[in-house]
Amino acid sequence: MEITLIIVVGILFGCLIGLSWFAGSDAPFVPTKTNRIKKILKLIPLKNKVFYELGSGDGRVVIEAAKMGAQAFGIEQSFLRILYSKFIASRLQLSNTHFIHGNIFKQNLSAAQVVFIFLLPKGVEKLESKLKKELKKGSLVITQTFHFKNWKPLKKILITDKKEPNTFLGPNKKEGEFYLYQL
Ligand SMILES: C[S@@+](CC[C@H](N)C(=O)[O-])C[C@H]1O[C@@H](n2cnc3c(N)ncnc32)[C@H](O)[C@@H]1O
Repeated sequence: MEITLIIVVGILFGCLIGLSWFAGSDAPFVPTKTNRIKKILKLIPLKNKVFYELGSGDGRVVIEAAKMGAQAFGIEQSFLRILYSKFIASRLQLSNTHFIHGNIFKQNLSAAQVVFIFLLPKGVEKLESKLKKELKKGSLVITQTFHFKNWKPLKKILITDKKEPNTFLGPNKKEGEFYLYQL
């Protein structure tokens, strides 16, 4: 009886962990490669800026922004990825990183000066009006692979690397294509 209970609790716990890892209503977890993050963030002055990443995955973009001097915030639905991000940031002693567990659509984004987004087209589309309403004029927004249909980008940047080919994400869509917008 006890063994059965332990097995059932173990399976339930495993399911919870699995669900948390795969959580992400507006995109699955597909991380941006670190060398591309470094290249794209270098194009933007980040020192003392408030940086937000919407759907921060394992925290790698937030951590790079923090290394460049930003007050860097990540919002992420997966509790497990939040724990992992906090662990990595504390190991690197980056006190200017802040990870928030939750849904990006339920957070107020008005403090952000730079926003980074890597979500599926529906999520990007839903964010359009929220960002227009909440962000201050002059704020910068970076999208990766899936972009705003109704906004004109300041710049389009394709980062490729022979050692790490860009991941195929759908017809004519490859990870590594970034658009930079200014509101
Ligand atoms: C494509 S991954 C990108 C991860 C990271 N931004 C990167 O570039 O490496 C999308 C992430 O957004 C998270 N996500 C999707 N919808 C979300 C939502 N509504 N609120 C918070 N996080 C969300 C997913 O859990 C996933 O970790």
